Amino acid sequence: MKTSDRALGVQNQTYWAQAGTNIALIKYWGKRDEVLKLPFNSSLSITLDRFYTQMGVTLDETLPYDQVFINGTQADQEKGQRLVNFLNLVRDLSGIRSRVRVESLSHVPIGAGFASSASAFAALAGAVNEAFKLGLTLKEVTMLARQGSGSAARSIYGGFNVWHKGERTDGTDSYGEQILEAKAWPLCILSVVVSTKQKEISSSEGMKRTVLTSPLYEAWLKQVPKDFQMALRAIENRDFEALGNLIEANAMLMHATMLGARPPILYMNESTLSIWSCVQNLRKAGYMVYATIDAGPNLKLLTRECDREQIEKSLMAMECVKEIMVCRPGKGLILL
Ligand code: PMV
Repeated sequence: MKTSDRALGVQNQTYWAQAGTNIALIKYWGKRDEVLKLPFNSSLSITLDRFYTQMGVTLDETLPYDQVFINGTQADQEKGQRLVNFLNLVRDLSGIRSRVRVESLSHVPIGAGFASSASAFAALAGAVNEAFKLGLTLKEVTMLARQGSGSAARSIYGGFNVWHKGERTDGTDSYGEQILEAKAWPLCILSVVVSTKQKEISSSEGMKRTVLTSPLYEAWLKQVPKDFQMALRAIENRDFEALGNLIEANAMLMHATMLGARPPILYMNESTLSIWSCVQNLRKAGYMVYATIDAGPNLKLLTRECDREQIEKSLMAMECVKEIMVCRPGKGLILL
């Protein structure tokens, strides 16, 4: 192979990969490094079976510039740029300078409160590892995915995952790791949609403002490692009640830090709170169900199959509930 050929890699072959999105049980909120996407705290999540992104990557030097298609349509400037920045990183890593076509097929509902960027960058990291012949191990792929979207580090593996915050400034110890396979604990995750409106403050912006201005952020950083350790133990012991109580407390503490930001950040709305209180009442009535909320008004409920139907029925009777989607622990990165 000539040097110039080597610099272009394998041309015109499309490499496809897929990854499920994930939902955090112990949340990530705040970056210690914006560029490398290094978090202040470790987090823990479940990769979901039902919602995923497929990514196709083709090296094609004849293109005038990198092309990004999302569900068949050329991506807007902002989304496209984020992917091109990631491709630049991969070009630097591989020494291959070719232009690239990226096709993204999203099976993540928009506006329902799932971070589609987690599954997108997890699938993309898997696909570029093949297309650019990077030869990365899965652990290294989690670190590459992290640089596209932090929480993507938790979507490389299926089932239950942690994203270690790491200590080093170069990010080499900030990676995703599976702690339990999907089938080892078949819980149900109900996504309860109350609004599909685009949020006004992105999670990235929200994190930045919270870190810089919330006097409660210190308290978050003190508590979250304890929650993380207790959640690990609860998962190890399959202690559903302990895990449920932890995810509720952890989500509310994260939202409290945001409420303490200047100006305050409020992602919840009145429907969020109605459902939150319905969940508490369902528990009083003997159903095992716990809620968590990310950077938006929609909720994710953790429950077990034996209680699922009744919980769905009670929630669907509420006027503010637009839709309920049932997910279970699923697969991470798959090469197609
Ligand atoms: O990965 P991002 O930038 O979408 O941030 C995710 C933030 C939360 O969803 C609120 C928490 C988490 O750990 O997923």
